[in-house]
Amino acid sequence: MAAAAHQIEGAAYEDGKGLSIWDVFCKDPDHVWRSQNADVACDHYHRYAEDIALMKSIGIKGYRLSIAWPRVLPEGTGSVNEKGLDFYDRLIDALLAAGIEPYVTLFHWDYPQSLFYRGGWLNRNSPEWFEKYTSVVVDRLSDRVSCWMTHNEIQNVIGYGHGKGVVAPGLTLPIADQLRAGHHALLAHGRAVQVTRARSAKPARIGWAPVPKPFVPATESPEDIDAARQAMLSVAENGMWSTTWWSDPVHTGAYPEDGLRHYGLDAPRVHPGDMDRIQQPLDFFGMNVYFGARVRAGGDKGYEVLDDAVGSPLTAIEAPVTPSAMYWSPRFCWERYQLPIMITENGMSLIDWVTEDGKVHDPMRIDYMRTYLAQAKRAIDEGIPIRGYFHWSIIDNFEWIHGYKQRHGLSFVDFSTQQRTMKDSAYWYRDLIQRNGAQLMDG
Ligand code: FCB
Repeated sequence: MAAAAHQIEGAAYEDGKGLSIWDVFCKDPDHVWRSQNADVACDHYHRYAEDIALMKSIGIKGYRLSIAWPRVLPEGTGSVNEKGLDFYDRLIDALLAAGIEPYVTLFHWDYPQSLFYRGGWLNRNSPEWFEKYTSVVVDRLSDRVSCWMTHNEIQNVIGYGHGKGVVAPGLTLPIADQLRAGHHALLAHGRAVQVTRARSAKPARIGWAPVPKPFVPATESPEDIDAARQAMLSVAENGMWSTTWWSDPVHTGAYPEDGLRHYGLDAPRVHPGDMDRIQQPLDFFGMNVYFGARVRAGGDKGYEVLDDAVGSPLTAIEAPVTPSAMYWSPRFCWERYQLPIMITENGMSLIDWVTEDGKVHDPMRIDYMRTYLAQAKRAIDEGIPIRGYFHWSIIDNFEWIHGYKQRHGLSFVDFSTQQRTMKDSAYWYRDLIQRNGAQLMDG
């Protein structure tokens, strides 16, 4: 199960927490649906025990959470907010007491506003800031936490936050600046991995959680499969959402050749030692998987990306429903990087509600889970080492620019009373866990 600090914690101004770029971004009434914000969100900061009990009741074994950097270091660097760290202490202890293993993400988008004023990821000192923050967290939690992730979807932070300007911090920078910020974020990843390994009290398992943009073959002919592989691993096709532009440096220590050609003079200046710093040994390749685009062989580039068929299924966020992405994305990434895979996020948004019988019926989500997980099973059956799956999300939460319009949870949240109601999908997932996936075979 997965969630992130800013989307669920609330308590945005409590116990000494500093401002994050998302707190500030939400203050502009035009940024988020109905000018909503995450000041209270799911009030998880106070209700974490209830949420953990909920996870326990359906048999969840692992929970991917994130730490709010400005809750721990209100200014991003410098003085530590003990009360902020105390919260994560309590959270981790409660998870372990419930038999749920915590998987901690260090950066899930809520960047400290104070550091943004100092240039944020554009500043070449930003990797050092991230390293210091990481060391504070690791020093405090690594006697109990052994599984860590550095960045969540760094593609989104840079592409949407620094390029298109539609998410925090809302910048519309030229491509060269986006790539420079991205390079610093990659250096930050490397430093965080190094410092985690060096300081962890327990042997650490470390990865990250990018969002490779999946392409799926239109048919399973060898030609279409090659075409999909080529599309997925090409920088030109994917721009800022490229799988290889971000993952090659981390896993192979070099930016991909086609990316360097594509960006030309806009490519970031690489200082001596940078690539060694970025390429640190990792224990797993995390990936968020939501949807894929269909591809067939042909055209000038050797592949053509097809439009979705008219009327094909969409989630509430208007993302296509493409279960085979859960097979092809792990397969292509395994072929290229040869690292065990963790599905760090997967799930769907719906606009669901409590019906007259007091329940939440979400058959489409059950269908989504069943069909996506069946594809993960196919990958595993073929020897692709998928070592974990985190469903997004345990409870409905603040969905960034969409506010509370769409719901991703297996548990419904009434945001006026904070009451949680398990959806049908939560019970289905409980049974799936109990029967160790037998429903995937039942069809
Ligand atoms: C991902 C984000 C996560 C959540 C899901 C629905 O892109 O990482 O925080 O918003 O989408």
